[in-house]
Amino acid sequence: MKLLDGKLMATQIKAEIASDVQQSFLNKGLPVPHIAAVLVGDDPASQSYIAGKEKACKEVGFISSVYRYPVTITQEKLIEVIRFLNDDTEIDGLIVQLPLPKHIDENKIIEQIKPQKDIDGFHPVNIGRMVLGLPCFLPATPKGILTLLERYQIETTGKNCVVLGRSHIVGSPISILLSRKSTIGNATVTLCHSHTPNITSITSQADILIVAMGKLGFVTADMVKQDAVVIDVGIHRIPSDETKSGFKLKGDVDFEKVSRKCSYITPVPGGVGLMTVVSLLQNTILAAKKVIY
Ligand code: GUN
Repeated sequence: MKLLDGKLMATQIKAEIASDVQQSFLNKGLPVPHIAAVLVGDDPASQSYIAGKEKACKEVGFISSVYRYPVTITQEKLIEVIRFLNDDTEIDGLIVQLPLPKHIDENKIIEQIKPQKDIDGFHPVNIGRMVLGLPCFLPATPKGILTLLERYQIETTGKNCVVLGRSHIVGSPISILLSRKSTIGNATVTLCHSHTPNITSITSQADILIVAMGKLGFVTADMVKQDAVVIDVGIHRIPSDETKSGFKLKGDVDFEKVSRKCSYITPVPGGVGLMTVVSLLQNTILAAKKVIY
């Protein structure tokens, strides 16, 4: 088994981005790329994701601004905030950390983000363009998975790829991307979800298995084909006295047992999560250079 090392890959790509910031912006006297992040409420996981994004921005020489609001903010007020950030010409990329509180309609909020600043690739315009194979911001986690497959030279053409989970953020877009007519694509994709009967009979046929269900340790060794490539998108915070933070991260895959059976696997932590942040940085470079729009 070989690790698909998201940490190593993220470090390499961040160095490439930092060098691009120097050459394409600083050396030309242009303002460096700037991400604005909107965070509503005090969900610990969301706070930790935002802290990770701020740290990555600093590492590559971007500016980041975090706009924090209490959980009680109204939908109308949040829409006003987004319109204000849309119109701020100093901001290249705009993200709204999800999930939002229940009284706010996430779709309505995402629709307010200018597609030109939508570095998460969540706006219907970007999703529509992705489906049509037009230039767009790809959603960060699927883009990170494609980058890992590309940089580790894992063949996808003609392979059986099984995706577990149909979220708008991961499962649906990665299944579309892997089935596209494209270098990293041309796979036969099966998308499984909570109403799929006998999932094991499907996963055990997968050359590439992408797991994004949000169920701790769901994938066990008996579900995985010998020498499959396994990508674990799950992130669960498990309370632990062994760490300073008071928790440990675990995925949707039983890493210890599954790793003995597969050819490649992403660890949690140190796998897809770090690639998501890097994809966001790459999308911000594209936004700042106005490559897509
Ligand atoms: N919540 C979980 N994943 C994501 C992500 O990729 N972007 C945003 N904005 N929120 C998330």
